[in-house]
This record gives sequence, structure tokens and C-alpha cells, in this order.
Amino acid sequence: MREKTTLLAPSILSADFTNLARSIETAEKAGADWIHCDVMDGHFVPNITFGPFIVQAIAKCTNLVIDTHLMISDPDRYIEDFIKAGSNQVTVHQETCPHLHRSIQLIRDNGAKAGVSINPATPVSTLESILPDLDLVLLMSVNPGFGGQKFIPSSIAKIRRLDDMRNALNPDMTIAVDGGVTVHNAQELVSAGADALIAGTAFFRAENPAEAAAKIRSATR
Ligand code: DX5
Ligand code: ZN
Repeated sequence: MREKTTLLAPSILSADFTNLARSIETAEKAGADWIHCDVMDGHFVPNITFGPFIVQAIAKCTNLVIDTHLMISDPDRYIEDFIKAGSNQVTVHQETCPHLHRSIQLIRDNGAKAGVSINPATPVSTLESILPDLDLVLLMSVNPGFGGQKFIPSSIAKIRRLDDMRNALNPDMTIAVDGGVTVHNAQELVSAGADALIAGTAFFRAENPAEAAAKIRSATR
């Protein structure tokens, strides 16, 4: 079993957008590892957030890893823009990429780490062929579109299955879990195989974000 600290990625979606720099500072001081940027297009998901312009502003405020989650149709059109804006890793959805291998190559050719995300209803088995080419899988544990939703319990079995696949096909790959992560379920997620936890509400809306971050990061395998 690997002994390593759990990576924490606060999702900027739940931050105070009237003062992004301060929100990012809160994340840095709390020991966050990545800043998770949720990009939504009102087409693949029923909500619209922001584009490369805001990602660039976020990247200017911090040296933390900029982890960009593209919940958009036809992401290939924008991958280069998001990497130029400062994204260190870019995750596309399996459901939006008919030529997933090409999308992953595009991310890597532009110098970023490449991830694939799957919705709660998409089986992990759909990732088998692409897994050796990935730096990261972002497993959605809510239906993407909004922060503050309830964790879907069947996600735990998916993390375990993905962990088995990872051990067989790509041991260096990171498993991230996104949606409904709390200080209460963090340990269960990490025990199942998660390396990185995305937390919007549980971090930015916590009474004491630093305390919440410490609890989440203390989860061990
Ligand atoms: C959901 C986004 C998540 C979201 C997580 O579509 O991909 O990153 O911001 O928010 P919480 O932690 O509040 O569920
Ligand atoms: Zn996300």
C-alpha cells in the first residue's frame, strides 16, 4: 500500500468571486495542493461559469497547480487557450470526446498533464483503453453542473474499481474525486483509492477552511 498525503483541491466555484485573490490566499494558507477551476458551458452541463480569461487571472494569483475541469462540449477547440491561460492540468469529459485519444494528445502536446472525467452514470470500464495515456482520472461523484450537491454513494465502488484498473494499467496515475466531498467522507474515499479530493463547499463555505483542509488532507490509505 502506498503511504502518501491526500491532495486537496479547493474548487474555486464556491469561492467569493468578488475577491478571488483573497480566496486563493485562503486556499494557499490552508495547504491546498491544486486550485480546481470548473469551466461550464450551459450545453454539456446546465450552468455557465467562466473561460480562459478568469483562469488566467487565477493563475496569476498563485503558484499552486491550476487544475482545469472542462465541462464543455467540443473541448478540443479550447484546450490550447486554457493551457496558455496557465492550466497545469486539463481534464476533459469522456462523454464529450468522441476522439478521446486525440483530445488527450492535444493536452499533452500543449505541455499540460491530461485527465479524463466521467459522470456518475458512466462506467469506469469505458476508460480501460485510454488509461495508460492518462495522468489523472477525475471521478464525478455528483452530476456535474453545480457545487453543493450530495455525494452519490455508488461512487465508492467506482473508485475501488478504478484503483484496481490503475494498479494493473498505470500505477502512476492519480485518482481524483469531485462532488460532495466533505470532512466526513474524505477518509472513506481515500481508503477506496482516491489520491486527490476536490472540495468546493466543504472548503470555501466551512466556518474554518484551514481546519477543514487539515481534516481532508489527513485522510490516509
Ligand atoms: C461540479 C464541479 C465540482 C464542484 C464541487 O460540477 O465539477 O468541482 O464545484 O463542489 P462541491 O464540493 O460543493 O460538491
Ligand atoms: Zn469540478
